[in-house]
Amino acid sequence: MSPLSSRAADAPVPLASPVARATLLGNTPAMERARRMLRRVAPLPHCVLVQGETGTGKELAARMLHDASPRRDAPFVAINCGAIPAHLAESELFGHLRGAFTGAHRDRAGAFVRAAGGTLFLDEVGELPLPLQAKLLRALEVGTVLPVGAEQDVQVDARIVAATHRDLPTMVAEGRMREDLVHRLAIFVVQLPPLRERTADIELLVAHFAALAERETGVPVRVEPAAIAAARRHDWPGNLRGLKNAVLRAAVHGDGLVTADGLCARGPWSVASFDDATGPGGMVIPRGSFASMKRAILQQVVAEAGSIREAAQVLDIPRSTLGAWLAVDPAEPRPRRAAAGRTEDAAAAPSPHPVPARLGAVAR
Ligand SMILES: Nc1ncnc2c1ncn2[C@@H]1O[C@H](COP(=O)(O)OP(=O)(O)OP(=O)(O)O)[C@@H](O)[C@H]1O
Ligand SMILES: [Mg+2]
Repeated sequence: MSPLSSRAADAPVPLASPVARATLLGNTPAMERARRMLRRVAPLPHCVLVQGETGTGKELAARMLHDASPRRDAPFVAINCGAIPAHLAESELFGHLRGAFTGAHRDRAGAFVRAAGGTLFLDEVGELPLPLQAKLLRALEVGTVLPVGAEQDVQVDARIVAATHRDLPTMVAEGRMREDLVHRLAIFVVQLPPLRERTADIELLVAHFAALAERETGVPVRVEPAAIAAARRHDWPGNLRGLKNAVLRAAVHGDGLVTADGLCARGPWSVASFDDATGPGGMVIPRGSFASMKRAILQQVVAEAGSIREAAQVLDIPRSTLGAWLAVDPAEPRPRRAAAGRTEDAAAAPSPHPVPARLGAVAR
C-alpha cells in the first residue's frame, strides 16, 4: 500500500532518512532487476556496461558495483570520455612520459594505472574517438597499456565499468563505435529505466531527496501530497538528477514546503517577466519574442537536466550549440554598438530574461 493512501489527503509526506551509502533506491520491477544484476556481477572481474538516459543513476550504479566488489578498498577512478579533449584522451587513459608532447613536463600515470586493483569507470564511453577505441580494446584484451611516449607496455589491473546514454548498436551501424569494443564492454549489461517509466518510485525518491535537501539547507522540509501526484505526471527529462534538483529548488523557494507548483512548474530562472500561459499537462509556456521564448524553454530543460552538458544530451545537440542558443539567439534583434569593427558581445545584448554568467561563459 502506498504511504500516501494511509494519510489524510493534505498531510505532508514523511521524510526518509538520507541513505548514507551509494544505493540505487526504487522498488519497481525494473529497479529490482537492475539491483539484482549489480549484486550478481559485482564480485566478478568482467566488464559491465551500464545503460540509461542522463540522470538515471549510471555513476551511482558503477559505485555500487565497486563497493560490492572485492576491489572496494582499492581506488574507484571515474573518467568522463565525453569531457576530455580528443588530443588529451590517450594520455588521460594510458598516461604519458615526460617530454612525450609539448607541456608534458613530468611522467603522469593514466587512469588505468591509477585504478590499479580497483575499478575504472569509463563514463560516456561512446564519445571516445575511434582510434582510441582501438587502443582501449587492446588494453582490455591483453591487460597492458602503452603510455604516450613510452616504448614498453605497462601491466594494468582495473575492473572496467562503462556507461553510456547512447544506443551503442546504432553507433556501430553508423560507424562511430567499434563493434568488437562494444562486445568486449558489454559482457554484462545493466539497464537503468527512465524515471517516467517508474512513477511508482516517485514518492520514495521525493522523500529521499527532500531529506537530502533538509540536511543540505538545515531547514525542515515537508512535501505536499499534491506535489507527489504532480511529479508522477511530470516527464522528468533529467530523470533522477532533475528530480533531485527540483526538490531542492522547491524546498528553498517554498521555505521548506515542497508544493506541486514549486516542484514541477518552473526551472530555476524566473520567467515572470513573460505573460505566461499554461499549456497541456500544466506546462508553462513563456510568451515573448520567438527567440526569448525558445531561450526560456531551453533554460527550463537545463534546469531539469541539471547542467548544460546533460541538457545537450537530452536534446541530442552539441553542448556548444545549446550554450550559444542560451546566451543569445542570432534571430533576436541586437542593439547597435558604438565601436565599429568590434565583435558583438553576445552576452551584452539586453534580454528580458537575464542569462546567468555560467551560461554566457559557455557560449563564448
Ligand atoms: N535510484 C537512485 N536512488 C537514489 N538516488 C539516485 C538514484 N539514481 C540516481 N540518483 C541520484 O541522481 C543523481 C544522478 O545520478 P548519476 O550521476 O549516477 O546519473 P547518471 O546516469 O550518471 O547521469 P549522466 O548520464 O547525466 O552522467 C545523483 O545525485 C544520484 O545520487
Ligand atoms: Mg554520469
